[in-house]
Amino acid sequence: MNPLAIKNLVRSTRLPLIGGVLITLVAALAFGLTVGNAATPAPKAPVALKGTGDEAWGANYFPNVELTDQDGKQHRFFDDLIKGKVVSINLIFTSCSSSCGLETARLMEVQTYLGDRLGKDVHFYSISIDPLNDTPKELKSYAAKFGADLPGWRFLTGKPEDITLIRQKLGMYDDALTVDKNQSDHVLHTMLGNQATGRWMKGSPYENPEFTANQLGSWLHNYKYAAPKETSFENAPTYVRNMSDGEKLFRHRCASCHTIDGNRYAAAQRIGPDLEHVGKRRQSQWLERWLKEPDRMLAEKDPTAVAMFNQYRKLAMPNLRLDAKDITDLLEFIAEESALPLDARRVAVQ
Ligand code: HEC
Repeated sequence: MNPLAIKNLVRSTRLPLIGGVLITLVAALAFGLTVGNAATPAPKAPVALKGTGDEAWGANYFPNVELTDQDGKQHRFFDDLIKGKVVSINLIFTSCSSSCGLETARLMEVQTYLGDRLGKDVHFYSISIDPLNDTPKELKSYAAKFGADLPGWRFLTGKPEDITLIRQKLGMYDDALTVDKNQSDHVLHTMLGNQATGRWMKGSPYENPEFTANQLGSWLHNYKYAAPKETSFENAPTYVRNMSDGEKLFRHRCASCHTIDGNRYAAAQRIGPDLEHVGKRRQSQWLERWLKEPDRMLAEKDPTAVAMFNQYRKLAMPNLRLDAKDITDLLEFIAEESALPLDARRVAVQ
């Protein structure tokens, strides 16, 4: 994991006890409990932990409230959804016009890495924090816009008080968000966990999807599945390329939804349009405003914005709260990248 990703991970996590902990946050931290208390008996050997519900973070800790998925099926939170499972849990609401779509888009990439393990030994749950408006039908259409692989990935709604309880228990509760749903920055993270072993950690929407797939597919399965490629210091690059600010931003905020390769690599295609030479296709004033407030342009029925929205499965580009410098940096990077020969492009060609 590169230092920048670590920095972003830390910046975007909001646990009270985050301190200097970087990557792995054990459940104790995630749930706001204290660790290292001398009076606490040592945990039982992991072999005894099979997701029976008797673990420290088992049936006595998690609520067994009922949630409804995108197909109208009912599930008990503990018994049916997390007991004995490796899971990724994030919060969404389908009318969100800001960053929450970014996390869904990133999970889409993680889904690709996990392949057919999704729904077998790794489960994704996106829980609505706007359950009164997010009916199963809304959730199903949201899932379809992104191309989520159902039912290995479930989109869930339920009673507001039940969802609040789940969020509190998972350390994903934020008052500010409840008062103003648009403050969606507050809960961008995802909880990744193995209920049986009690190991939980926080994921960030700016994390590299391959890394998250590895956390879910290998680490949380106690490294049962070895990484296919052995990494060795001998193979480490001899120098680290200096990335421009624009490239960094693009990698973290845009690459889950956009490529810059003229759509020449079918496998790399993303949720949004390819951005090769977008600076030539669009007027700069339009483009700058679009990056600043795509949601407002759509609301004002800007004809180009409306046409694009309809073309792209009515999935709105999120307002990523970019400032003027971010926008200049990004447009510069996109122009530079578009001008490079295809095999020299630095992002999104996979
Ligand atoms: C969650 C997915 C998502 C993310 C993240 C995202 N976009 Fe988009 N973007 C879209 C979609 C979808 C469209 C098509 C318009 C629509 O449906 O609203 C779009 C359209 C665009 C367009 C217009 C393309 C054209 O052909 O005119 C540009 C430019 C753009 N995005 C740039 C960016 C940049 C730069 C970032 C990162 C800072 C970014 N987007 C992040 C989904 C996303």
